[in-house]
Parts: sequence; structure tokens; C-alpha cells
Amino acid sequence: MRAIDWKSSENGNPAEIVLLDQTLLPAEVTTLRIQTIDQLIDAIQRLAVRGAPALGVAGAMGVALAIQNSDEHIAHADIARLREARPTAVNLAWGVDRAMKDAARGLDAVIATALKIRDEDVAASQAMAVAGFELLAELLPQKAESGLTLMTICNTGSLAAVERGTALGVVEEAFRRGKLINVLACETRPLFQGARLTAWELSNMGAPHQTIVDSAANFIMSQGGIDAVLVGADRVTANGDAANKIGTFSLALGARFAGIPFIVVAPESTIDRDTATGSSIVIEDRGTDEVVVINGKRMSPVGTTAINPAFDVTPASLITAIVTERRIIRPSHGESPADALAQQNGAMGIAL
Ligand code: MRU
Repeated sequence: MRAIDWKSSENGNPAEIVLLDQTLLPAEVTTLRIQTIDQLIDAIQRLAVRGAPALGVAGAMGVALAIQNSDEHIAHADIARLREARPTAVNLAWGVDRAMKDAARGLDAVIATALKIRDEDVAASQAMAVAGFELLAELLPQKAESGLTLMTICNTGSLAAVERGTALGVVEEAFRRGKLINVLACETRPLFQGARLTAWELSNMGAPHQTIVDSAANFIMSQGGIDAVLVGADRVTANGDAANKIGTFSLALGARFAGIPFIVVAPESTIDRDTATGSSIVIEDRGTDEVVVINGKRMSPVGTTAINPAFDVTPASLITAIVTERRIIRPSHGESPADALAQQNGAMGIAL
């Protein structure tokens, strides 16, 4: 089942968003039926639905829910709250804004746009999986032939999108082609998206994998154990800086030290051309409890607080390549998303 989907209204029942509750995985596979904006915001903030592409779909579907449920005035207030529910992944605001462009044409038009965004995400994931594998074959021709050992962080698979996902989609492509020796999934403290969700997806695929504590990653890379690091992104700025799950920047440094490719895989909806560099990205801080309480047990003394940034920013200079559904951008060779998109628009005669 998909991490997020839309159930049309039938027999007089209103339409709803159907989510896989990711907070309970892998122990329980439970769905949530979302009928109100408050329920959707709660699901987004608890990370029941998460991952940049899935948040883009949630944003657009949320606009449809808000319009379905409210008079126009309330819908605008609800939509503004939804747009701000998590600040770092640009896809949420992007999905809301794209659906809102059709609001004047009525509910059916907004639903059609939300479903289009969902379907485009499926196509984008498929294209990124193939392009990402082909890039690995270009950068590491012998390893791509004899078999790859990869590293990733957080969850960037089908749970983070509609199908397949971004970085984990490339890993899956390598596995499908019989070219994956192993993938190390960083556990991804504090919420364990790697140890819980990525390991669950890889187990379901039957793909070889292991999980590691986040702090083991750079040592393992330095020992020559990894061929490439593949990560997703929550926001890529005009110059190619990339915000992603906390720990990603450290992996990029480790990859540079080990001399291996560090590859960001993200759909073009994650590129934020309006933000010049990563220093302007708002990083969500999720508070003390996620860090000091594990499975209901407090690990630190009462009174100890935590700094808990959910994301970090990897500078463009550490990124070997950004793989989107349309192109490969090589920031470490001086290429930027802004230039790449401007060139395409110039070629198509579109003024920016
Ligand atoms: O806090 P999360 O679990 O929503 O963080 C998700 C990530 O950092 C992913 O790597 C990113 O959204 C890309 S998902 C394809």
C-alpha cells in the first residue's frame, strides 16, 4: 500500500486522505483516514506522513480537503496553517501553492491537480531510480558491474514518496539489476527512520542490508567499505546547497575524506530557486523529548535539555551530483540548479 493516497467520496461519504502511519512501523502496519486539516497537520507534525515528496502530495491533497470541508474564509486560514506545518521541506509549501492555483476553479480542479502531483511523483521516482543507477555506472564502472556497497541515511524510499522514492529508489534499481552487494542504512537518530523504515523497506524487497549507528558511518567509509553515499533532500537551494536529515552533512564530509561520490537524489519539486543558499533555510528544531526519551524511558537526568535540529545543510561543494527526474547537476564541478534550470528555460524561450 502507498504511504499516501486519495480516496474519492462515495455513497455520500466525503473524500479522504489515506496514510500509512509511519510512527508505528515496522511493528504495526496501520492506516490513518484523514478527513480534516487538523488531522492532517497532526499527522505531518508527528511524522505519520513524512519525506519531502510525500509532503508535497499531502500539501496538495490537504488543500482539497480544506476546500471540501469549509467555507472559503476558513479554508484560507486552514491552508495557511497546513503550509507551515513543517518548515524545512519545500515540497509541502510547493504542493499547497500548486493546488491553490486551481482553487478558483473549484474542488474538482484542485482534486485533479493533487492527483496529478501524486502521479507525477511516481513518474519522477522511476526516472530518478534509472538516472541514479546510470550515474553510478558512469562514476564507478567496475563496481556497478561487479556489485555496489552503498550507504544512505533516513528513509527516502516509497514511504517518503508515493512509490519507490529518491535515493532508496536508486538502491532498489541496483538491487533489481543484480548489482547491489549491500546497503548500510544509518539508523538516523533520534527517530530511527533508517533503522525502522529503510530497513523495513529493504527487508520487504529482500535486498541485502545492515543498519549502523550514525556515528559509525564515517569510520566505515574511511576503511574503504563503501562505494558511494546516496541521500535525499528536503530543500535544494539555487546554488546547490542541500538540506536533508540531520547527519547528512557529516556523511558528505566522510565521503569527501574517503574519496567516494556523495549523491543527492531529489525531484525538481525539491529545488527552491527562490532561496539563494542553504544559510537561509529554516531548520526545524523538534525539541528535547525526542532526544532524551527512548521508548518511553528517559535517558538523561530530569532538567537536561537537548538541541534537536531535524535537518542539516550540506554545502554544494561537497555534493558530487544532484540527480533529478530531468537532469544531473554537478555542484562539485561548479554547476548549480539555478543555472541548469535557467538554461533549460532559455532553450525553451521561457523568461524567468
Ligand atoms: O523528518 P523526515 O523523516 O521527514 O525527514 C525526511 C528526510 O530527511 C528525507 O531524506 C527527505 O525528505 C527526502 S525523502 C525522499
